[in-house]
This record gives sequence, structure tokens and C-alpha cells, in this order.
Amino acid sequence: MLEIRHLKVKYAGSSEWALDNISMDAKPGQITLITGFSGSGKSTLARALMTLIPKFFSATMKGEIQVNDRLIQSYTRSELIKLCGYVPQYPADFVTTLSVEEEVALILENLGFMPEEIISRLDEVFTILEINILRNKLQTELSSGELQRIAIATALAPNVPILIFDEPMARIDLKSELLLVRLLKKLAKEGKTVVAFEHRLDYLLEVADNVIILENGQITAQGKPETIIKDLLIIDPPEISLMKIPNSSKIPASFTDAHTSLKEFLL
Ligand SMILES: Nc1ncnc2c1ncn2[C@@H]1O[C@H](COP(=O)(O)OP(=O)(O)OP(=O)(O)O)[C@@H](O)[C@H]1O
Ligand SMILES: [Mg+2]
Repeated sequence: MLEIRHLKVKYAGSSEWALDNISMDAKPGQITLITGFSGSGKSTLARALMTLIPKFFSATMKGEIQVNDRLIQSYTRSELIKLCGYVPQYPADFVTTLSVEEEVALILENLGFMPEEIISRLDEVFTILEINILRNKLQTELSSGELQRIAIATALAPNVPILIFDEPMARIDLKSELLLVRLLKKLAKEGKTVVAFEHRLDYLLEVADNVIILENGQITAQGKPETIIKDLLIIDPPEISLMKIPNSSKIPASFTDAHTSLKEFLL
């Protein structure tokens, strides 16, 4: 369980709050989808949840983040990585000279997994993500979409209860996007707390349990996808603008309705 109360973040050297009075929960067994325009504060919130702010990004921070009823700053780094997995927005920034398999195995070794457990975790995540073919490749040989999927494998491998994905759909093709949406749903069903920061909403929106809209560092709306759909129309990434049904002032009651109307219009 993640609980955020009155969180404010201002990067060093900036006069504006990148996050301003954020209060929200992300619950086990649910997919919490946090969306908003570029610059609205999604990555800043993801970094704060991983304590990268203020540990690696110099910033003033106010308010509270609790993980399982304990303040996040009371966890040691090794305790936190046993609780939270993180897929950064730009996995290419984290590439090392190790092979894909060596990289994921090293993380598991550092977390104290036994050799036979490491092999079974590697087999499981590479199979789930359909990336067995990449196992022995060097990370430096991979495309950005492949690196994205390796970053997801790395976050999933330790089987932690909380997963934070910063734009997991960026750079992946439609087939991988659908696979990932199914996977997030499965992880939530297993009882994990899944938090996805994303503006590519088309398929993810249908499986989200709670949607939060960020604008200029503030939460402007939150609720179930079907109740928040009217607020999503203002976000206007390409996928959502598809929901504005041509020649109609009607706002669709659900995402599925929007798709159906659009299909009717196009066919
Ligand atoms: N390292 C940083 N130093 C200073 N300001 C930053 C830093 N990172 C982000 N910001 C600023 O904080 C605000 C929120 O940015 P953030 O990257 O969190 O938005 P975002 O919603 O993730 O955007 P995107 O969709 O483009 O990834 C923006 O005004 C941005 O310019
Ligand atoms: Mg971002």
C-alpha cells in the first residue's frame, strides 16, 4: 500500500513546485494509472516514490509518503528495492556493458536470491515477456524498444509487491503493448500494487482501477476510468482525441463506448 499525503516537490534552482499538494493512495490488487501532459509531474512523482528525489535529484520535498504504513525515508535502500520495482522512463540511461541475462541475474544476486532461484526467476520473466531471444545479447546491441522490455524484466524479476512503471508503453510496439497490459492486469490480480505513469492510454485505461490526472503538478481529477472519461478528453494525447467522436458533441460514457462509436463512424 502506498499513501501519499500533501506531497510537494521543487527541484533545486527552480522557482515552481513540480508537484504541489499531491495526496493519493495506490492499493494492492489494483492498477493505479497516473496520466497528464508532458511536464505535468509524472516522472517527478515516480522518482519521489523510489526516493530518487531527494537522494539523486536535488530538490526540496514536503509532505509524506508511506509504504505499508511506514514513512518511505525510514527504509534502507536494500529494504526498499525488496518492496518496490521501478521501470524508469528512459531505460537507455541505465545500460551497462553486461549481457541482458547477466544484468538481471546480478540484481537478483545482490538481493540475496539463491542460484537455482535466480535461474527460475530468469526463465519466468523472459518467458512472460517473450524475450528469451534477447537473453544472451549485450544491452549495448539492443533497440530502445528491446531495452524497455529488459527494464520491465528487471523490475519484475525480484517478484516485489509494488511496481512503478514510468511510461512503460513508450517505445514498444502494439503487440508488446497488449502483452504488457495483460501482464499488469495479472500482477494486480496476484495482489501487487501496480502504479503506471503513462499518457498512451488506449488499452491501459480499460484495465485501470483508478485513474489520476496531473496538471501542472496538481491532481485535477481522480476516479474510476468510466467516471473520469470526461476529464480525460482535455488531456488530448492522440489516442484520447480519438474518443472525441467526429460530428458529435456527445461525450462517450466509457472508453469501450468511444471505441464502438468510432468504429461505427469509420466503417
Ligand atoms: N531534473 C530536473 N530538474 C529541474 N526540473 C525538472 C527536472 N525534471 C523535471 N523537471 C521539471 O519538473 C516538471 C515536471 O516534469 P516531469 O518530468 O515530472 O513531467 P512528466 O509528466 O514526467 O513529463 P513527460 O511526459 O514529458 O515525461 C517540469 O516542469 C520539468 O521541467
Ligand atoms: Mg516523465
